[in-house]
Amino acid sequence: MTDSTGTERNSTGMARRSGDPNWWRQASVYQIYPRSFADADGDGLGDLRGVTAKVPYLAALGIDAVWLSPFYPSPLADGGYDVADYRDVDPRLGTLDDFDRMTQALHAADIKIIVDIVPNHSSDEHPWFREALAAGRGSPARDRYIFRDGLGPDGSRPPSDWVSHFGGSAWTRITEPSGEPGQWYLHLFAKEQPDWNWEHPEVRKDFETTLRFWSDRGVDGFRVDVAHALAKDMSEPLRSKPSVADELTPVDGKDPLFDRDEVHEIYAQWRKVFDEYDPPRSAVAEAWVPAERRPAYASPEGLGQAFNFDLLRADFDRRAFREIITNNLDQAAASGASSTWVLSNHDVVRHATRYGLPPGHDLGQWLMGDGADPEVDYEAGLRRARAATLLILALPGSTYLYQGEELGLFEVADLPAAALQDPIWQRTRRKLKGRDGCRVPLPWTSAGPSFGFGPDGAHLPQPAWFADAAVDVQDGLAESTLEFYRAALRLRRELQGFEELTWADGSADDVLHFVRPGGWHCITNFGRSHVALPAGTCRISSGPLRAGELPPDTTAWLTR
Ligand code: GLC
Repeated sequence: MTDSTGTERNSTGMARRSGDPNWWRQASVYQIYPRSFADADGDGLGDLRGVTAKVPYLAALGIDAVWLSPFYPSPLADGGYDVADYRDVDPRLGTLDDFDRMTQALHAADIKIIVDIVPNHSSDEHPWFREALAAGRGSPARDRYIFRDGLGPDGSRPPSDWVSHFGGSAWTRITEPSGEPGQWYLHLFAKEQPDWNWEHPEVRKDFETTLRFWSDRGVDGFRVDVAHALAKDMSEPLRSKPSVADELTPVDGKDPLFDRDEVHEIYAQWRKVFDEYDPPRSAVAEAWVPAERRPAYASPEGLGQAFNFDLLRADFDRRAFREIITNNLDQAAASGASSTWVLSNHDVVRHATRYGLPPGHDLGQWLMGDGADPEVDYEAGLRRARAATLLILALPGSTYLYQGEELGLFEVADLPAAALQDPIWQRTRRKLKGRDGCRVPLPWTSAGPSFGFGPDGAHLPQPAWFADAAVDVQDGLAESTLEFYRAALRLRRELQGFEELTWADGSADDVLHFVRPGGWHCITNFGRSHVALPAGTCRISSGPLRAGELPPDTTAWLTR
C-alpha cells in the first residue's frame, strides 16, 4: 500500500524502513546528549560504548531514530558545540570504531542515526583557527574566520555593537604573533566558538567533506546547529544590532546576522551532497526564525525539515496548542516537508517542570532561585507533560524526544554554582545559570554509583530523587512514565501512515480533539473539570480515566 506521501507501507501502516527515502517524515526521534546518557568507561562522561550498550533499551522504547548531539573532539567550552575536529570522535567518548559499532547496533535494531553538525562556528582549538591566529593580519588563514580591526585610534573598541547569544560582546580581541594587541574575531556564542566565514570556498568545501565523511559511515541524517546564522552581511560599516532577541530579526531576510536569504544557497549545495546517497540523507534545521520564514529551510531543495520550537515557549493551554498545530501543519504543507514537534531538548527547562510552574513564568529567574520560588507543582507538571506528549505523538510529522523525558524527569534546578558548566553562567556574569539542569546524567538504576549512569561518578551532580525516577524502578511498572512512553510509541506506529488531521469541532471549550485516518481520535482536556469522552475504545491515556470521562490535564487516544 502507498500512502499520501508516496511511501510504501505494510498492513499496519509502518513504513518500509530500509531504503525508504521518507523515513524521517513521521519518525519519532530520540535525542541523546552523549556526555550525559551512559558512561561505559567510568570517567564520569557518557560515551559511545555507553550508547551501544543501551541499544536494547532504545529498541524497547520504540523510537525510529536517534539524534546524537556533538561527540566530536572538543574542549567542551559549550558542551561539545565547540568542535575542534569535525571528522573524529572525542577520545573521552570513544573512537571512530566505537562510532561504527554503535551505528551498526542501531541499524541492526532498525533505528536510524542523525548526527549534529555545527557549521556556524568551530572551537578555538580547531587547527584552522590556531593557524589563523599564527598567520597574522590579512592572511588567507584569517579569512576562513571573521577577523576585523577594532574601532578607535588604537583599535581597542570592538568592530560593532553585536552581542553574543550567551551574553557580552560577540567580538574578542586577540594578541598578534608579535605580542601586540591585535584584531578582533566574531563569535555569536562563546569566545571559544569563532564563527566561520561562509564566503570562503575552503570552508564550504570542508563542510561538504564532513557531510560525506559521516554519510559514508552510514549516518542517515543531520541536525544542523544554528542553521540560520551562517550567512552574514559583513559590508562596512557594520550595521548596528545591539540585541539577539529573535523578535528583533526582521522577516525580509536582510538582518545582518540571522536568517539572511543567501543562507539557502549553502543548503541547496548541501542538498546535492545528501542526494548523492541512496536513500538521500535527511536534515533538520535548528533555525530560530519567525514561523513564516521556516518553510525555506524545510524545502526539499534545502535541508528538508526545520524544527518548530513554538511549543517550547507555549503554556499548557488549549488555544496556544491549537494555533501552533494549525500554523505548523500549514507551513509544513507549504514547503512539502512534514512538521516537527518538540517539548524538551538540551537547551530548555524540561517540560514536566515548565508545566508545573505558573503560566508565562520567567524560567531564567526561577532557576536563579534554585527552583524554590515558586515551587513546582510536580504532580500537575508531570500530568500535563504526559498529556502534551501523547498529544504531539498523535500529530502528523516527526516528534523529537529528549533523553530522560521518558522517565518523567524534572529539571534539576538546584545545581550548586560550582558545578555549572554552561558558558551562559560566566558570560552573563552569573545572572543566568543556563542549561545544565536538563543535562544531568540519566538515572538507570535506583542504587549504585551515579544511579547506574556509569561505574563511577557523573560529570554533573545527580539529585537524590533520581533514585525514584530510575529506569529499573519504572521498567515493567504499568503506570510508570517509561511504560507509558513505550506503549504510546508502539501504538503511534499504527498512526504513522498518513499525514492528514481533521479537527473535531464542537467539543467543550477546554478540549482539543482531532481525528486521524483510520478513525483515531486524540482528545486532550486542558481544563479544570472532567469532560465526557465520545464513544469508542480507549487505546491509551496519559493518566487514569474516570468512568467514560477524561480528567483535567489528560489526553486519550480512542478508536471507533
Ligand atoms: C544550538 C545548540 C546549543 C548551542 C548553540 C551553539 O543552539 O542547540 O546547545 O549552545 O547552538 O552551538
